[in-house]
Amino acid sequence: MAKTAQLTFNGQTYELPIIEGSENETAIDISELLEKTGLVTLDIGYKNTGATKSAITFLDGDHGILRYRGYGIEDLAEKSTFLEVAYLLIFGELPTTEQLKKFTRDITTHTLVHEDIKKILDGFPSTSHPMGVLASLFCAQTAFYPESLDPNRSAEGVYLSIVRSLAKMPTFAAWSYKNAVGHPVNYPDNSLDYCSRFLKMMFALPAEHYEVDPVVANALDKLLILHADHEQNCSTSTVRIVGSSKASIYSSISAGINALWGPLHGGANQEVIVMLEAIRQDGGNIEKWINKAKDKNDPFRLMGFGHRVYKNFDPRAKIIKKAADDVLNKLGINDPVLDIAMKLEEVALRDPYFIERKLYPNVDFYSGIIYRALGIPVDMFTVMFAMGRLPGWIAQWKELRENKEPIGRPRQVYVGTKSRPYVEIAKR
Ligand code: SDX
Repeated sequence: MAKTAQLTFNGQTYELPIIEGSENETAIDISELLEKTGLVTLDIGYKNTGATKSAITFLDGDHGILRYRGYGIEDLAEKSTFLEVAYLLIFGELPTTEQLKKFTRDITTHTLVHEDIKKILDGFPSTSHPMGVLASLFCAQTAFYPESLDPNRSAEGVYLSIVRSLAKMPTFAAWSYKNAVGHPVNYPDNSLDYCSRFLKMMFALPAEHYEVDPVVANALDKLLILHADHEQNCSTSTVRIVGSSKASIYSSISAGINALWGPLHGGANQEVIVMLEAIRQDGGNIEKWINKAKDKNDPFRLMGFGHRVYKNFDPRAKIIKKAADDVLNKLGINDPVLDIAMKLEEVALRDPYFIERKLYPNVDFYSGIIYRALGIPVDMFTVMFAMGRLPGWIAQWKELRENKEPIGRPRQVYVGTKSRPYVEIAKR
């Protein structure tokens, strides 16, 4: 017998279907609520509202679980590679050797961007934040590949757009950095793997020989895996709702890049380092900054702490915290802000304010420390997040289109002025 929930309103009782997911998540299906009851729901920030049924990523916020297509993030971070995880998220299964070879080869042969992209890049002053440049360059692909605008594009055509997105994102990212530092751009070296190719485009200089450090490349590959998808977060929901209007993959993902930029979302990794540096400059007074974070009259928040879904440890933060230690040791770096971060975590996790609100370190709390150790400048931290999240955005956009979901159009409760006649300006 199908489970239902009962809603009683104005003396009438309605039966609403209950649906259960494969991990026993249970939801009231309100698809026909308005038609049946004349009621809409209100859930500002969608804290309780599911926007879709998805088979891509599963989060269990109470138990700190994150799985991509059923595989635990711990396993993938330790044993997989970013392109293998990208294939898993987008196509639903881990690739065979042949499939991964072809996917990697297809991506490698599309890393170059049209020379006219440089004209767009040249239009950005060096003071431009790389995230704004990245979002623009990524969307500019609609101009160079107008066939991507076809909402009924063939599966082969969509595959080509997917490959181009993954192939050119690192090139756009590295070029947005070169624009910020006023250096000439580097062209992709296709003899290298995905992360090494990006690092060389980022850091190689005409006058010097550049050798990629495998420790750095491996650490970056692990970080990209950890950021690859995270179900219906702010930027992914943005990609889905833009994609639901049948906008192209490039414009949908460009919208996602812009959503990720916000300091409450992907922009937090940059803000964490700014915060840790401020605490260091201030003499490392941890208690003072914890109290600022707790003070309702103080806009300061403990950046990198708290999460809409995780009410326990963010499993990615645990992995990144250990990786930060490993990378700094391997590179022989002693970064004082790592000690500050660890002390901040220790004090916060003992404090009733954070315990009552279940505020734990999230993915952004330690990632900036590794990026800094890898030589990535602070303004590029959120660009790194976007590079990692790209396969997730692609997978979610593809799922929405394949499931033929309707255009997203939430309702509202109007609280404005009621009907009134127009008043001539002379009489106002
Ligand atoms: C990401 O959704 C995802 O999956 C995102 C992400 C992904 O992979 O896509 O995981 C990536 O965006 C991680 C989050 C990065 N952002 C930050 O680190 C910024 C700092 N954290 C927050 O601003 C906040 O915790 C959010 C935005 C992450 C979550 O906000 P919610 O769920 O809307 O919670 P809230 O703002 O309503 O806070 C609940 C309470 C409030 O206190 P009260 O009003 O109940 O007294 O907790 C407090 C908040 O003031 N609070 C914090 C806090 N975070 C929440 N207080 C101090 N410091 C913080 N960091």
